[in-house]
Amino acid sequence: MQAKIVIVGSLNMDLVIRAQRLPRPGETLSGETFDTVSGGKGANQAVAAARLGASVAMIGCVGADAYGEQLRTALLAEHIDCQAVTVVDGVSTGIASIVVDANSQNAIVIVAGGNGRLSPALIERFDTLLADSQIVICQLEVPTETVFHTLARARALGKTVILNPAPASEPLPANWYALIDYLIPNESEAQTLTGVNVDSPAAAENAASAMLAAGARNVIITLGERGTLFANASCVEHIPARRVQAVDTTAAGDTFVGGFAAALSAGQDELQAIRFGQAAAAISVTRAGAQPSIPTFEEVQEFNSL
Ligand code: RIB
Repeated sequence: MQAKIVIVGSLNMDLVIRAQRLPRPGETLSGETFDTVSGGKGANQAVAAARLGASVAMIGCVGADAYGEQLRTALLAEHIDCQAVTVVDGVSTGIASIVVDANSQNAIVIVAGGNGRLSPALIERFDTLLADSQIVICQLEVPTETVFHTLARARALGKTVILNPAPASEPLPANWYALIDYLIPNESEAQTLTGVNVDSPAAAENAASAMLAAGARNVIITLGERGTLFANASCVEHIPARRVQAVDTTAAGDTFVGGFAAALSAGQDELQAIRFGQAAAAISVTRAGAQPSIPTFEEVQEFNSL
C-alpha cells in the first residue's frame, strides 16, 4: 500500500527519569523511576499518524545497535512502512535524555547519533515514497540541509508540506517559508522564529502574522492548555483546548502534528483536523512517555464523545 503520509525525521531512544523537580546546574538529584521509551520527534509523529488512521512511511536513520532495532520494530508494529529507515555504521542510534518533574514539565537533551546522517542523498534514494504520498512532514532533529532538500522536493512534487520547527534554536532561513503549507510551532518555537514573546493568544496572533508575512501559507501555533491558534491570509481562529490532568507532556506536540496530518489525509478540513489533533494531544499528556502515550483513533472518538 502506498503511504499517504511520509515523515522525514528523527528516531530516538528516550532515557526517561521521573524526579520531583528538574536538577539545577551542578546538582545531583535522586530520581524516582527510569524507563527506556521509543521516541524521536519524527518517529513519534509517524506513530501518531498511523495510530490515528493514516497509512505512513518513515524516512530516517538509526545506528547498528539494539536501540535502533527496537525503534524500527516499534514502527513496524504500527504498520509503518520502514523500507527507508536506514541503518548506518559508526554511530549510535539517536538518544534523548529526559527528566520529567512532578508538575509534568520536562527537560530534554538529545544526541543526534544516526539522525545526523540523514542526508539529501538518502531522501533522493527514496524519492518514490515522496512522489507517491499526499503529505510530507519534517521537523528539525535531522540535518538542516536535509530538511530544506525535503521541503523543496515535496513542494516541487505538489505535496502538502508540513514543517514542525522543533526544536528551534534560531529563525528559519527566509527561503523556507514559501515551501511550507502548514507551519506548526509551539509557543517557544514561534518566539524563536519571530522574536514575538508568545505568552497569550493575542501575542500568538502577532507571531502568526509575522510567519504569514514571511511566506507560510498557514500557521498553527500550539499553545498547550490554552489551545491552538490557526491563521492564514483569510482567517484567524483560536481553538480552545479541553482541560485534562497532565502527567507528562512529552510528545504532545508530535501527537498533535500526527493527528492533524492523519485527519487532513482523511479529507477533514483544517479546523476539524486541528480539533482532532488537539483531542489526541490532550489524551497523550494524561499518559507517560512518548510513543506509549499516543492514543488510537478509537480512543480519540471516545474522548470526543464524553
Ligand atoms: O517531542 C518529544 C521527543 O523529543 C522525544 O521523544 C525525544 O526523543 C525528543 O526528540
